[in-house]
Amino acid sequence: MTFRRKRTAILISGRGSNMRALIERARDPAYPAEIVLVLSNRPDAAGLAFAEENNIACTVVDHKIYAGREEFERSVQVLLELHRIELICLAGFMRMLTPWFTGQWQGRLLNIHPALLPAYRGLNTHARALADGAKIHGCTVHFVVPAMDAGPIIAQAAVAVLDSDTPESLAARVLAEEQTIYPAALACIAEGRLRVKGNRVLCGDRAIAPTPLLVPFSG
Ligand code: GRF
Repeated sequence: MTFRRKRTAILISGRGSNMRALIERARDPAYPAEIVLVLSNRPDAAGLAFAEENNIACTVVDHKIYAGREEFERSVQVLLELHRIELICLAGFMRMLTPWFTGQWQGRLLNIHPALLPAYRGLNTHARALADGAKIHGCTVHFVVPAMDAGPIIAQAAVAVLDSDTPESLAARVLAEEQTIYPAALACIAEGRLRVKGNRVLCGDRAIAPTPLLVPFSG
């Protein structure tokens, strides 16, 4: 059977460490997605340099020069079509997307969020989890829908919250998990292994049953 890797774009606004994890994972020719475009809405996004060094087409669509969200998105869409993009990964992309855009990409547009959704939508997730005294925190890969940080959940990873944690230390442990589940989730989508049923994303018999994470009384 011939195997064709899915042409994937990553949209960033800043540091791009998740972008980097996706690019590194996709270096394997057996990985089912190929990163062919990195697009930033900010000209100064640090992640652009890594993508360029890795010979990936990079482009900036500066949202500030557009009159509105949809005008900005129409320019982004032209570039995505030009590069024959099939899947999009948002990776620290700090723009809300309109229903016009998300509608075009339904089931093909992914995001990584630094919390166990549906808890802690929005910003400052780590500080809010600490302030609430949460014992378990984590990250989520989900399909993007018009509502912010909503959409069917594809994968999640959880970490224990430690007594010594600060928002920064917790963010660092969560980020390490983000960089594991995002490439894994993209691979599942690219291989067409998932089925969406209502709000649930099902992965059939490939699912594993992991050991429960009990905090703080496990072991
Ligand atoms: C990550 O924590 C991601 O979950 C969130 O924004 C952050 C982006 O980090 N959406 P990076 O740019 O991937 O390093």
